[in-house]
Amino acid sequence: MKAIHFPTYGSPDVLELRDIDIPTPSADEVQLKVHTAALNPLDWRRLRAKPFFVRAEEGWLRPKTPVLGADLAGVVTKVGANVTDFTVGDAVFGDVSMGSLAEYVCAKPDYITHVPDGVSLAQAAATPVAALTALQGLVDHGKLKAGQDVLINGASGGIGTYAVQIAKAYGATVTGVCSTRNVALVQSLGADHVIDYTQTDFTQQTQTYDLILDNVNNYTAAQLHPVLKPGGACVVAGFKGLSNMLGIMLSAKRVQRKHNKTVTSMLAKVKQADLITIGEMLADGRVTSVIDRTYPLTEAAAGLHYLETGRARGKVLVEITPA
Ligand SMILES: NC(=O)c1ccc[n+]([C@@H]2O[C@H](COP(=O)([O-])OP(=O)(O)OC[C@H]3O[C@@H](n4cnc5c(N)ncnc54)[C@H](OP(=O)(O)O)[C@@H]3O)[C@@H](O)[C@H]2O)c1
Repeated sequence: MKAIHFPTYGSPDVLELRDIDIPTPSADEVQLKVHTAALNPLDWRRLRAKPFFVRAEEGWLRPKTPVLGADLAGVVTKVGANVTDFTVGDAVFGDVSMGSLAEYVCAKPDYITHVPDGVSLAQAAATPVAALTALQGLVDHGKLKAGQDVLINGASGGIGTYAVQIAKAYGATVTGVCSTRNVALVQSLGADHVIDYTQTDFTQQTQTYDLILDNVNNYTAAQLHPVLKPGGACVVAGFKGLSNMLGIMLSAKRVQRKHNKTVTSMLAKVKQADLITIGEMLADGRVTSVIDRTYPLTEAAAGLHYLETGRARGKVLVEITPA
């Protein structure tokens, strides 16, 4: 099968399209024929081993799992003896952690779910990492409630485009922060207010929020907490660098104690229940995946170069098996 081989750490230019063996599922796995994969910043961070501690997970000298990609949608082609929830021919989507930039991959059943009727494989493939981060950031970490004032920093990116729609679906009044060229996009997703960060710094205004989901990580806790209402929460999902993130983590307790507000970082987890929720939201139209660009498998490296610019609008996909 064709796969995007990841032989060494480096820029997307180190990636090679190779012919490798089709993986065989264990008794606890399913084998999938991948239709579409989605790219995430975590893919280029793994590729570049940036920050360096990525190597603790991925391999100190070279990558242990040399096929890149996490998000996907595809069709079940084989089912392990202990798997009961899936049968050959089922359309599924999920986050397989590693290996989705290939024609076939094996997956643990807990990390995938069925694509609902009426939802395209491309729409589903776009969601796992980004939409789960948005959902968990807003609902699990941010305790989102109807009627709250919610600000989404980085509203036009992969996480942000889902976060605006999810916050609206939960009944919040939503403010999206993006640059001038993305104002119309963020409005079209349902944002009640849009702040153009090239004109206005949201941390310098008088408006305050019950909940901020920060997908950029370009502010300190000292800059963020004054924009929160009393008892409010800011969940930082974005990762700009170790020092920014450590700053957020180290100030969390002080902000809580002195100001009765929460500024915390989060790490999303693959949960099948959340994939099911996102599938339901896609099916009934509460959420639509914003697809910026779709690359063929042969040009996956170009897709990663583009994502790395930090200018993607919604999601960047890689089509592996054209319909
Ligand atoms: N915590 C977790 O579990 C988790 C999970 C997934 C991802 N992440 C991290 O979350 C971050 C966002 O991920 P993503 O998939 O949404 O990335 P992305 O799709 O690459 O984000 C690109 C978007 O960010 C916007 N942006 C860039 N600078 C901005 C600024 N100063 N203010 C507002 N918007 C800005 C860009 O809009 P303009 O072009 O208009 O600037 C663009 O639309 C990344 O750092 C990623 O590593 C964390």
